[in-house]
Amino acid sequence: MCGIIGYTGRRPAVPVVVEGLRSLEYRGYDSAGVSFVHRGSLRVIRSQGKLANLEERLVTEPVVTATCAMGHTRWATHGVPAERNAHPHASGDQTIAIVHNGIIENHQELKDELVKLGHVFYSETDTEVLVNLIAERRRSEPDLLHAFASALREAKGAYAVCMMHKDEPNTLYAARMSAPLIFGVGTGEHFVASDIPAFLPYTRQVVFLEDGEIVKADAGGYQLMHLSDLSEISRESQTILWDMQAARKGGYRHFMLKEIFEQPRVVTDCLTGRIPHGHEGVLLPELEHLPTPKRLHIVACGTSFHSGSWGRHLLEPWAGIPTQVEIASEFRYREATLLDAEDMVLVISQSGETADTLAALRSVRERGGKVIGLCNVVGSSIAREADAVIYTQAGPEISVASTKAMCSQMVMLALLALHWKGRKEGGAPGTPSVMEAVELLQSLPAILDDHMPAMRERAVELARAYSEATNFFYLGRGHCFPLACEGALKLKELSYIHAEGYAAGEMKHGPIALVDPAFPTFVLALNDALLPKVESNIKEIQARRGKVIALTNPGVDLPVDDRWDIPAMPAPFSAFVALPALQLFSYAMADYLGKDVDQPRNLAKSVTVE
Ligand code: G6P
Repeated sequence: MCGIIGYTGRRPAVPVVVEGLRSLEYRGYDSAGVSFVHRGSLRVIRSQGKLANLEERLVTEPVVTATCAMGHTRWATHGVPAERNAHPHASGDQTIAIVHNGIIENHQELKDELVKLGHVFYSETDTEVLVNLIAERRRSEPDLLHAFASALREAKGAYAVCMMHKDEPNTLYAARMSAPLIFGVGTGEHFVASDIPAFLPYTRQVVFLEDGEIVKADAGGYQLMHLSDLSEISRESQTILWDMQAARKGGYRHFMLKEIFEQPRVVTDCLTGRIPHGHEGVLLPELEHLPTPKRLHIVACGTSFHSGSWGRHLLEPWAGIPTQVEIASEFRYREATLLDAEDMVLVISQSGETADTLAALRSVRERGGKVIGLCNVVGSSIAREADAVIYTQAGPEISVASTKAMCSQMVMLALLALHWKGRKEGGAPGTPSVMEAVELLQSLPAILDDHMPAMRERAVELARAYSEATNFFYLGRGHCFPLACEGALKLKELSYIHAEGYAAGEMKHGPIALVDPAFPTFVLALNDALLPKVESNIKEIQARRGKVIALTNPGVDLPVDDRWDIPAMPAPFSAFVALPALQLFSYAMADYLGKDVDQPRNLAKSVTVE
């Protein structure tokens, strides 16, 4: 995890770096720091906690003159969140500073070697080992570039790293191995960063670094090289078409709320160009070179895993493709025994950088398996390494808790199921035709736009009424089971209220023992074929004096403590209305309880550690 940025050019560099860190804070916010050279000395300024703490420290610093600087915002992996573990880390001789995202797996071995050579360590981090290793190699290598490369060749694990030296105050060195790093090319200025928004106000010209590459840059130019032998690489920059406004709050109190309300637009964007007028079926040219899978394995983490679990309820009946859904951190250790030659793997990842999902993709591809990536971030590692990539068109998602990305993934999964259904002309009887499904998808943006303001009001009422609960069950059946899991995930990650999502029929096999008047249950009781079974489960909870909130549709007769009517849609399209309701309830609860909605404690948006 962690966010890094480096700047070299003609502007005062520290404000550019601090501004960049602000847009990278979603990657971690346990501590932040910057470094630059002032009058021949390396200055490293760090602070525990959020960026605001660092900014306070910078008020008294001579930051104005530096035109080259680098910064870091941290999500703790090695060592507790504390100032001594914050980045940048400087070498013991105070000549070199680095910022690092990733984990150096052989740090202990390297540290033992360095300790024997007299190096002293002040933090618990692997990064401090790396910077001292560079300083050590500097003694024997002809220059800093060779020392940097030599140290990195010895490091095992993942890194995106940026370095500066007190004797080269305007030069940045950066390298990448299994962690995101992007290089920005401006006019008389250059940037390195973990993500594009960090330098988007200054340039749209981007060079995507690949694993095993080094870049050396100053205001006047840059050299891109292979880490292995420092041979030069020539690569054109690409133009990024993102709008910076999209990365701002647009009048909402929180990014999360803005992103929830963006879902109607997200549905429209995902459908654009996929169902051309007069064309029978769904257009996914990205998949043209791949066969229709005999069996599909969906692999993902967190919210993306829940989308995949929901998608299975469409892929199996509509396209007739047996589908298994697995958490990436589990799948990656056992997939060798699972995959047949005609199987295909679909990895779902908003960021395209989640370490476990990426590792699963790589190990499938190493065994000759085919992988489709469903990603939001253009040019991300998963997008670049998959055999085919489908982009989800959600736009930048800033809130750490994922909302609109799930909606976009669900639309694309529906399109994928319809695309494969079209190819096979299969699917179980009673499933919608491609045209029926497409019409229902196209009707969603207007329905959502009309009903979301009222849904928000109801969410606020219910959040207030249940704000004293310390536990929640979320129940659903069929395609509503993954939604129940997502509802529970959102509540716990935002409000820190314990919540579990269960298949409604599973309650009686143990969990129901927990139910009492203080332990409410949020039931997805939508008007579909499984409703009678869900009603029985509600009665079982009520018989144990448990309170029930039912997310249901007008006309459904349900005697519960609190009902929440949302517009009716046929299953599984009803999920697109239920999802924002669940998100809004968690948002309202967290907001009412005064929690940090956009940056919940202990979490990060992009999990690039395993
Ligand atoms: C983190 C985020 C979640 C996200 C998960 C998977 O845990 O906090 O919101 O669902 O990573 O991320 P991905 O980018 O792979 O979808």
